[in-house]
Amino acid sequence: MDIKSIVLAAGKGTRMKSETPKVLHKIMDKTLLGYVLDSVKEISNEDFVIVGHHANEVEEFVKTNYQNAKTVLQTPQLGTGHAVSMVCPFLENYGGLVIILCGDTPLITKQTLRNFVDFHINSNSDVTVMSAMFENPTNYGRIVRDLNGSVKRIVEEKDATPEQKAIKEVNAGIYCLCWDKIKPAFNNLKTNNAQGEYYLTDIIEWSKTQNLNVNAFVLANNDEIFGINSRQNLAQATKLINERKLNELMENGVTIVDPSCTWISDDTEIGADTVIYPSTYIEGKNKIGKNCKIGPFAHLRGGVELEDNVKIGNFVEVKKSKIGSHTNAGHLSYIGDSELGSNINIGAGTITANFNPITNVKSKTVLQNNVKIGSNTVLVAPVTIEEGANIGAGSVITKDIKSWALAITRAPLKVLENWVKK
Ligand code: UD1
Ligand code: MG
Repeated sequence: MDIKSIVLAAGKGTRMKSETPKVLHKIMDKTLLGYVLDSVKEISNEDFVIVGHHANEVEEFVKTNYQNAKTVLQTPQLGTGHAVSMVCPFLENYGGLVIILCGDTPLITKQTLRNFVDFHINSNSDVTVMSAMFENPTNYGRIVRDLNGSVKRIVEEKDATPEQKAIKEVNAGIYCLCWDKIKPAFNNLKTNNAQGEYYLTDIIEWSKTQNLNVNAFVLANNDEIFGINSRQNLAQATKLINERKLNELMENGVTIVDPSCTWISDDTEIGADTVIYPSTYIEGKNKIGKNCKIGPFAHLRGGVELEDNVKIGNFVEVKKSKIGSHTNAGHLSYIGDSELGSNINIGAGTITANFNPITNVKSKTVLQNNVKIGSNTVLVAPVTIEEGANIGAGSVITKDIKSWALAITRAPLKVLENWVKK
């Protein structure tokens, strides 16, 4: 089945009070839009992102990170129905399905989207809207059903009568359409509503007048459509995404000593029997092997690949680095832009000096297998320490060191006997 998606991301996001467009705000170093596109791309083969406010920044983000996605400019923003209609010229002869969703609901999962599309197909629907039961439905569009229980229309909060406001089934803002049948609706939307906008939700009533098959798919877990409108929402969503991730890891055999103070990004893979100690923060994309020990108080900043049996101890920060099996960095170190082999010991306080702040260039540190680095060493990149070499404690290493050599830059120790008494 041919499936495409449309992600609405042209809105302003006023309540974020930010220079950054709302959908580019991040949760553990991944943008809100990134979460949505990652979930939907598993199901659809082409994604359209509707951009408007801060269009350039959003376009740039999509172009560099999502090759299967196209951005479509909507200006001015005349409502959600208008937003979707921007894609019509790109889908003139398209006969497959279109999923519509919002760029600010990062918790939606690919599994739910998969179930949603399966429901659409199995129920022979022409339009399926995702709905959810909310104890407090305020601000959402309400699903109005007829006496037989079939979906009749969606009414927005601002247009609703008191009886309609009492309805607890809300529009989650996610739709699945048989495109060729629903496409004509976009020429028929009107703005005769409280907000003077072209409402996407009006396609439901239109479809009923055309005798099309309209259904609602009721969401099982309301968290999945949690939308971000404020910094508070951003913090709440971060917590939810983290909890979900930690549970998934524990189910797969990872020990999380204290889930209440451990943060692991959605894009981090961790092998079984690895133990994550408290106050560890892991953001971005990482791959951690089996039987590793991470933390307490470790910070992995993305682009980190650890083979099996690696130990990253307290106050160790690792960024964009590969580390081979049985290598230890136990205490107080920074490892960035590095490639470390296996069986390496990194002494406490070792720093890879990877950044030249004058040229703004970052360089690489390579440590081959069996290297031992003494405590308080600075490895000034670019630098390679060949297999088995040892670096004496307190050294500043500015050039490559040959295999099995000992390198040491420490000033010689001077002892003056009884100097204190004299
Ligand atoms: C919309 C639904 C409402 C539903 C709710 C779920 C309509 C008319 N109402 O309301 O029934 O319960 O979502 O969250 O659709 N956007 C554009 N271009 C526009 C307008 C909006 O791209 O011209 C984008 C926004 O950036 C946002 C999304 O569409 O991502 C939803 O728009 P918003 O104005 O938040 O709609 P709601 O009032 O929340
Ligand atoms: Mg909204």
